[in-house]
Amino acid sequence: MFTKIIGTGSYLPKNIRSNKDLEKIINTSDEWIITRTGIKTRHIADVSDTVSSMGSCAAKKALIMAGIKFNKIDMIITATTSSSHAFPSSACQIQFNLNINNSISFDIAAACTGFIYGLSIADNYIKNGLVNYALVIGSDILSKTIDINDREAIVLFGDGAGAVVLCKSDTPGIISTNLHANGTYGRLLSLPYYNYDSKIIPTLKMSGNEVFKIAINKIISLVKETLCINKININNIDWFIPHQANLRMITAISKKLDIKMEKIIITVDKHGNTSAASIPLALDEAIRNGKIKLDDLLLLKAFGGGFTWGSILLRL
Ligand code: UT7
Repeated sequence: MFTKIIGTGSYLPKNIRSNKDLEKIINTSDEWIITRTGIKTRHIADVSDTVSSMGSCAAKKALIMAGIKFNKIDMIITATTSSSHAFPSSACQIQFNLNINNSISFDIAAACTGFIYGLSIADNYIKNGLVNYALVIGSDILSKTIDINDREAIVLFGDGAGAVVLCKSDTPGIISTNLHANGTYGRLLSLPYYNYDSKIIPTLKMSGNEVFKIAINKIISLVKETLCINKININNIDWFIPHQANLRMITAISKKLDIKMEKIIITVDKHGNTSAASIPLALDEAIRNGKIKLDDLLLLKAFGGGFTWGSILLRL
């Protein structure tokens, strides 16, 4: 028994922030941002956008592509670290927005790796026969958590949501999931909750350069581990969908692993780093523009705060 993706969808806020816009806010330049990150634009949520509203739009499109009745969904997982409410969870709000009567619904927090963690959880429920149809959503609004003077973070992060519909299948499907975490790195990338005893508004803190180097090494080991477990080589994979944090990181990893850049789905130039949304956004875009086709072998890989990191090997 396998779990298969049968629909994808995404949502991006209308408001676009360009590098030229950032030049007016902080001491930076279009040239620095493009050279150091590859990012040209990112979408920024406005007051009407929330993790659940964006997630609902993405999920609706995924359900329409899947062609199933919304009420068939019996599990909703939202990967996010920027939900408007601790409870009701964004997953419960999405369930309500889409008029889904009854489903296991909860949020998970694994930062930029959240979507990979969520897929892995749903895969296990489906493979074990506990759930027939699942929605896994990655949705984040990290732009609102950034100190406007933090010029490293403000250039990187954008907002958005992506979603997939999953169901059981006799043919692959999700083939392998490999998840990791190491809390000793927690201080290098953090976002505290609001502390009621303090007047200070919590903001995202990132030791960019340290995260950069560790992430590259962890992802290289992760890809080697995934290939080894599944007894395949890098050329067997049709498409790589990395977490979209920085184009320089993606390029460095591809060079080390001898992956052709033409086989990598890149959206970071247009979306920036959308945290848990980045992989499902890239997947949806590549399916809808015809790059990724049915039966292609995909490797999804992510790294984020925690630190957390993980990969999923799947056949579409
Ligand atoms: O999703 C997972 C979480 N995040 C990541 O994976 C992020 C990983 N890190 C990165 O993407 C990169 O480290 C950054 C883009 C954040 C920074 O790039 P870098 O090449 O690591 O820069 P750096 O920290 O080594 O700084 C180089 C210089 C510094 O100036 P000095 O000290 O050499 O004079 C910085 O102050 O660049 C300066 N700088 C900037 N200059 C113009 C830092 N941010 C900016 C900026 N504009 N926005």
